[in-house]
Amino acid sequence: MRKPIIAANWKMNKTIKESKLFVQNFLFDYAPIGCDIVICPPVTSLSSVGSLLSDSKHSSSIKLGTQNCHWEENGAYTGEVSLTMLKELAVNSVIVGHSERREYFAETNQTVNKKLKSIYSQNLRPILCIGESLEQRESGNTFTVLSTQLNEGLDDISITSGEDIIIAYEPIWAIGTGNVATPKQIQAVHSFIRETLAILYSQSIAGTIRIQYGGSVKPANIESIMQLKDVDGALVGGASLEPDDFLSLIQIGCKAKEQILS
Ligand code: PGA
Repeated sequence: MRKPIIAANWKMNKTIKESKLFVQNFLFDYAPIGCDIVICPPVTSLSSVGSLLSDSKHSSSIKLGTQNCHWEENGAYTGEVSLTMLKELAVNSVIVGHSERREYFAETNQTVNKKLKSIYSQNLRPILCIGESLEQRESGNTFTVLSTQLNEGLDDISITSGEDIIIAYEPIWAIGTGNVATPKQIQAVHSFIRETLAILYSQSIAGTIRIQYGGSVKPANIESIMQLKDVDGALVGGASLEPDDFLSLIQIGCKAKEQILS
């Protein structure tokens, strides 16, 4: 069985003070509900958020994630942060290939691949984001784009267990727009991703890899998304910025999955 996993991607939001306040309020009301949680604050808040999480009684189910990394361990890469540095802050998961990184910071499938290799060499866990633009969807190229992102991003990468990776399917047209993909669109893509992973690795490994949906996920729409067979969680931007929203999204989403699986 795949344990649901809900991740918060705060993007470039929250000062250290705001991040701490969020985590304190979140932990105050959080009750475990059989899901893994990952919180990915901006890099400046990693240390404070990490300390609060590791000191909490929920440290086994709520992990610290980061939104980006460089693939080299050190060197002349002004402004970049390496995985060795992030590991010191007790980071557990690393978002790679988010469409905003691809669009604004020239991330390609090739740099994603380098980052993934580096993440594995550091024994960390990637959340690999893939997704098509509206134009690509409307021209009927969704599956080709996703297949290329998976094949090139995962080139020469060995995955031996479902725990090694999380895939986040995030249609670009659904991110931050309020235009969530329909359950039918989401299930079709998630099942395609699992089939592609089965070709790349094996049916049994693909069956254990968790695939999140991301793009305008809110407490109001998480239930029907989590009920889908091949959806194992969500990567949440806007609705992860307020503890109450994020908590109710987790409660509704995890309960919906539990009911479907029981
Ligand atoms: P959103 O962002 O939930 O605000 O659409 C999701 C993401 O970009 O990870």
